[in-house]
Amino acid sequence: MALVTLKHVLNRACKEGYAVGAFNFFTLENLIGLAKGAKAKNSPVIAMASVGAMKIMGEKTVVGACQGVADDFGIDMVLHLDHATDYDVIRRCVDNGFTSVMIDASSKSYQENVDITARVVEYASRYGVSVEAELGHVGGKEDDISVDEREALFTVPEDAVRFVRDTGIDALAVAVGTVHGFYKSEPKLDFPRIAKIHELLPEMPLVLHGGTGVPDDDFRKAIQLGMRKINVGTELKVHGVFDVSREAYDTEPSHDPRKVASKVIDACAKIVEEKIDVMGCAGKA
Ligand code: G3H
Ligand code: ZN
Repeated sequence: MALVTLKHVLNRACKEGYAVGAFNFFTLENLIGLAKGAKAKNSPVIAMASVGAMKIMGEKTVVGACQGVADDFGIDMVLHLDHATDYDVIRRCVDNGFTSVMIDASSKSYQENVDITARVVEYASRYGVSVEAELGHVGGKEDDISVDEREALFTVPEDAVRFVRDTGIDALAVAVGTVHGFYKSEPKLDFPRIAKIHELLPEMPLVLHGGTGVPDDDFRKAIQLGMRKINVGTELKVHGVFDVSREAYDTEPSHDPRKVASKVIDACAKIVEEKIDVMGCAGKA
């Protein structure tokens, strides 16, 4: 019935060995769909607003909408800022009521990443807001790089230990073979690397970005090895919102946008429910 922190939901996930689904939302119907899916599965849920989504909606609208949706559905929800690179944007989100933020300085040097991340932790922790940061770099489809170049960006386990100690973060996003967006070929996760990072940092919740297109069995294995938050965005954006809206607008004779909205809500809820079943967080609300 409220917005809760990332730390709160991941604490239990760490103790019990499951992952919590983190889903991007781009529209109000998309957000309602996340809540509906989580409610149906009696699961915790992490609603993620990207910086781009907020440019359209505004921080206060996003916070108000999430509080309202959590109340209406009677669920606990984490409101997480995804992939923020700018300290001032993060500060505004903390000030306006986000319960979790990600500082993504993964394309900077190790020391620059530590410096800005520690600064974010210092600010966010004053307000009890959780912080996720990324070490190594999870690329996107826009990064046209070879497999060798990509592997050079994978998280180095020993560096992860230093990074966690030097920053005081609540969750660590790692680069272990996933990418953002749809895959051109089957994703190849580096499971030994996940296991090693978890072995060195058994208490630290690990975050897997780029969840769209990852086979269910890979998710299960990654969770078994220590992943505690799994991000899914593109699948919701394209299959949950865009494709469903286009088809509904093309075929709905009544010209009633509410009919389109309810189809989007149901499509997003269905995707969320399927992921929750794989992640093992059903019944963990
Ligand atoms: O931060 C967001 C996620 O990593 C989403 O990745 O769009 O590939 O599912 P995805
Ligand atoms: Zn991501």
